[in-house]
Amino acid sequence: MNPLHRKDVLKVLDQVRPYIKADGGDVELVDIADNGIVSVRLTGNCVGCASAGQTVFDGIQSALQGQLAWVTGVAQVDADYMPATSRSAATESVQALHRRARRHLLDLLAALDDLEPGKNLPEAVPAFINLARGELSQLLRLEEEVIYGAAESFLGRTAGPVAVLKKEHEQLHRLFTEFTDLVIRFGGAGGPGPGELRAAAQRMARYFEQHTQKEQSVLFNVLNEGLQPDLQAELREDIARHVQRLGLAGALASTKEKP
Ligand SMILES: [Fe+2]
Repeated sequence: MNPLHRKDVLKVLDQVRPYIKADGGDVELVDIADNGIVSVRLTGNCVGCASAGQTVFDGIQSALQGQLAWVTGVAQVDADYMPATSRSAATESVQALHRRARRHLLDLLAALDDLEPGKNLPEAVPAFINLARGELSQLLRLEEEVIYGAAESFLGRTAGPVAVLKKEHEQLHRLFTEFTDLVIRFGGAGGPGPGELRAAAQRMARYFEQHTQKEQSVLFNVLNEGLQPDLQAELREDIARHVQRLGLAGALASTKEKP
């Protein structure tokens, strides 16, 4: 959203707001698209009363178009609408897979909470090990092959943050392996107890959390906000291709299901 355009739109909305408020309603600016379409949301009394809402909307539309020459249209959106910028962040698929992995790690921690010596391992443990060997390893590959490459060419070849994140992937692999080894030896003579399993799972979850936070704030933001729209589209397509190739399509689809 162009900040100057935003300022202008807010000024016009402030002028019409007293009239809307007199009827118990209000208006919010939601988005300004590159093509000059301004999206607004009506709240309060304007919602659900078709004719009054239409009158209010017509007033807003003519004020905006009358005062701002660049406004090509005004659209009224509902509460579920998300602006294009947040709807189509190029790295969204990877972020969705991060959220899914995080949920699995939390499930694992919760399942290990109840584990006592001599008891069978909860189902979440082998499930997580399968996930770490399959989906999680492929997710790390996806980042290394697509995102890190894109970030390196955007930030310059010697990008320090990318080198750090690659090292962290190696550490994540080590933590997965360490946890798997403990699980294999669990219950055997001289094997680890529930406490050791829990501690290893917590190390893994903490490390994953810190690492993905860093990726999010350092790399993804830079790419989603810094790349030109055509390069963003290219990155999004590249991610989609690799999601297919690495067998992550099913996992990604399940992140889109309604809970
Ligand atoms: Fe990563």
